[in-house]
Amino acid sequence: MLNGRFITLEGGEGAGKSTQIKLLAQAFAAASINAITTREPGGSAGGEAIRNLVVSGTTDRWNPTTESLLFMAARFDHLETKIKPALANGQWVLCDRFYDSTYIYQGIAKNVGTDWLDQLYRQLFANTAPDLTLLLDLPPSVGLARTDKRGNVAESRFEQMDISFHESLRAGFLNLAKVTPARIQTVDATQDAASVHAAIIDAVNARFGLALKPAS
Ligand SMILES: Nc1ncnc2c1ncn2[C@@H]1O[C@H](COP(=O)(O)OP(=O)(O)O)[C@@H](O)[C@H]1O
Ligand SMILES: [Mg+2]
Repeated sequence: MLNGRFITLEGGEGAGKSTQIKLLAQAFAAASINAITTREPGGSAGGEAIRNLVVSGTTDRWNPTTESLLFMAARFDHLETKIKPALANGQWVLCDRFYDSTYIYQGIAKNVGTDWLDQLYRQLFANTAPDLTLLLDLPPSVGLARTDKRGNVAESRFEQMDISFHESLRAGFLNLAKVTPARIQTVDATQDAASVHAAIIDAVNARFGLALKPAS
């Protein structure tokens, strides 16, 4: 029986996911609600080991199908060893990326197809769909300019993909949000970080009937 709630942040490179998840965690802490933050790929010891394989190296390091399976393997480890135990413990789980990223990056933008991924998702991850997904949307040129400034060349394998790949990610995410309105809320991520945070707090409060205050 899972009692906690599961919130994911999605979006392209440099959208502000890592920035926003920290602020959201602060807002939960200020309200004395027990929440953990985690990320994909990674989040658990096994997941982080697989992360190193997928986020570094040349863009063509993996065949896209192999890459999809690596992401799914990392996710299974993460889910079993960290997310499910936390939810069962009544904790809220705030996760930087989840299955939507595999669906969009590999399924759509790398064209491996989404039916088999969805099938695998249902078999491996049944009953663990996020309760709310916040899609941070912005033009890829803006996000990539941010990641250039941020640095972290060691984990830039996806950032190095050409601009058409990033455009296809954005279109894919927006379309997924359009067909999944009950779960996915789109947030304008071109705004300054405080405004994006305020929009996220509004969405979380509305979805769960909370009264979180924005972290300052
Ligand atoms: N709303 C924002 N406006 C301008 N810069 C931002 C904003 N949010 C985050 N940044 C900066 O942009 C870079 C990428 O943000 P980050 O949170 O790491 O994005 P992501 O995790 O989605 O790749 C970081 O250097 C961060 O400080
Ligand atoms: Mg990040």
